[in-house]
Parts: sequence; C-alpha cells; structure tokens
Amino acid sequence: MRFYVNMYTLNAAFVGKVLLVFDELPSTNDYARLIANEVQTQEGTVVQTSRQTSGRGQMGAVWESAPGTNLTLSVILQPTWLRADQQFHLSKVVALAVYDTVQEVTEPLPANFSLQVKWPNDILLNGKKIAGILIENTISGAYLGISIAGIGLNVNQQTFSPALPMAGSLVQLTGHTFDTDHLAQRLFAHLELRYLQLRGGATDLLHTDYLARLLGYREHRHFELLPEGTQVEGMITGVDEHGRLVVENAGAEQKFGLKEIKMLL
Ligand code: BTN
Repeated sequence: MRFYVNMYTLNAAFVGKVLLVFDELPSTNDYARLIANEVQTQEGTVVQTSRQTSGRGQMGAVWESAPGTNLTLSVILQPTWLRADQQFHLSKVVALAVYDTVQEVTEPLPANFSLQVKWPNDILLNGKKIAGILIENTISGAYLGISIAGIGLNVNQQTFSPALPMAGSLVQLTGHTFDTDHLAQRLFAHLELRYLQLRGGATDLLHTDYLARLLGYREHRHFELLPEGTQVEGMITGVDEHGRLVVENAGAEQKFGLKEIKMLL
C-alpha cells in the first residue's frame, strides 16, 4: 500500500488530501468502510486501487474494471449534517462531480457528442456508461453518519466483455488516453466543490444542474416497469427529494424508486 499526503492536489483542500493507494483490493468501498469504522479517518480520505478484484455495483451487480486502466476509488465523507431522508442530494453531488470532471478533461467535446447523467447516477458519454457510482451510508438517528462514495470511471480500457454492451470508456469514445492521476486530482477538486455547495445549502442549484444533465428529462421515452417487465411510455418531469423518478403519462404523474423502473435506451 502506498500512502500519500497529497502535496499536489489541484484545488481540493480535503478530498483526496489523504490518499491510500493499493496495488490490489477486493473493493475500495469495502476497505474504506473498514477503515472508517475502525480508525478515525479524516473526512475526504480516498482509497484507490488499480486492480479491484471484487468490485461492487448497484443492486448487487459486479463492477468490472481492467487492471491498471481506470479509476476505481472510494471517498470517505461525513455528511452528519445531512438528514438521512435527504441522502439523494449526495447522490447528485457525486454524479455532478464525475460529470464535471469528464466534461473538463474532454473539452471541447465535438458537437455531436453527448454527456449525460442517467438516473439515478450513471454517467453516459454518447449513450455508453463510462462511470458508475455506489454510495453506501451509515445512519445515526435522523442524520447520515459516514458515507462511502465509490466511483468507477472507465478511462483507458480498450475493450469490455460482450456481456456489458452498454459499457464504454473515455479512450474508446474520444480516441485519447488520459492520465488517471490527473483525472483523480480533478475529480477530487470537483467533488469537493459540489460537496461544499451541498453543505452550504445550495440544494436548488444542485437540483437544477442535475436536471439539466439528466438523460430523457422532459422527453418522450419508453420505460420498463420492474419487476414485471411491462413497457410504458412517458416523460420524466422530475426527480423528487427522495430520488424517485417522476414520470408523466397521459397527464398523470407517478413516482418510481430504483427497483421499480428502468428507462429503455
Ligand atoms: C454501478 O453499478 O453503476 C456502480 C459501480 C460502482 C463501482 C465503484 S468502483 C470503486 C468502488 N468500489 C466498489 O466495489 N464499487 C465502487
């Protein structure tokens, strides 16, 4: 394990200041949780590895990442000031930070390229998922305790398993390789900025920014209702404070949780 007190952070004061880098880990989220529970960790401590052997995704999925090519890291946050029932704000913060980072490093994106957030917090470049986010929280009373924000950003991976037809990477889509250390530093800076916006109460701004980047927002789309698999049409008209997707169909609005609906691409 390499331990850094980050001397070259590009504008981040606490996110990534303590950076724990491992050659291999089963899951950075699991390791971050372990150390956050066992020792007093500084807020913003990052656990990173270039080879994650049991990476976890949302809803029990596996997160695959070719060794030495991508970013797989977890940030330990302590949003003890955020009510547990408002935790979706944190999801927006992390999604926007990843979005901001990709936007910055790919600038200027060709006009026919699209960078979007797919509800709840996937990052898509030209319709391909280039990043996934897994946030795991502890709750203390009505408030959050420790949040582990796990981020997998596909950077220089050239090919993906045929079992993952929606997966893509920055190199595949832009034709350029990227310096993963630089990307990580920019991600820390953007995450810090968005997190401080939330801590400062800028929830309206975060919500507006999130909706402005949301795939399918106010567009006519097809959805699949889960678990039954029925297909419906509708328009996303919002995301409520609990993170539920609001879909309008025939003049009526309905709200759906993560396990209840899937947008068809
Ligand atoms: C998703 O399913 O979209 C979420 C994927 C999250 C993957 C990241 S990689 C770093 C961190 N450690 C994990 O085990 N998972 C997250």
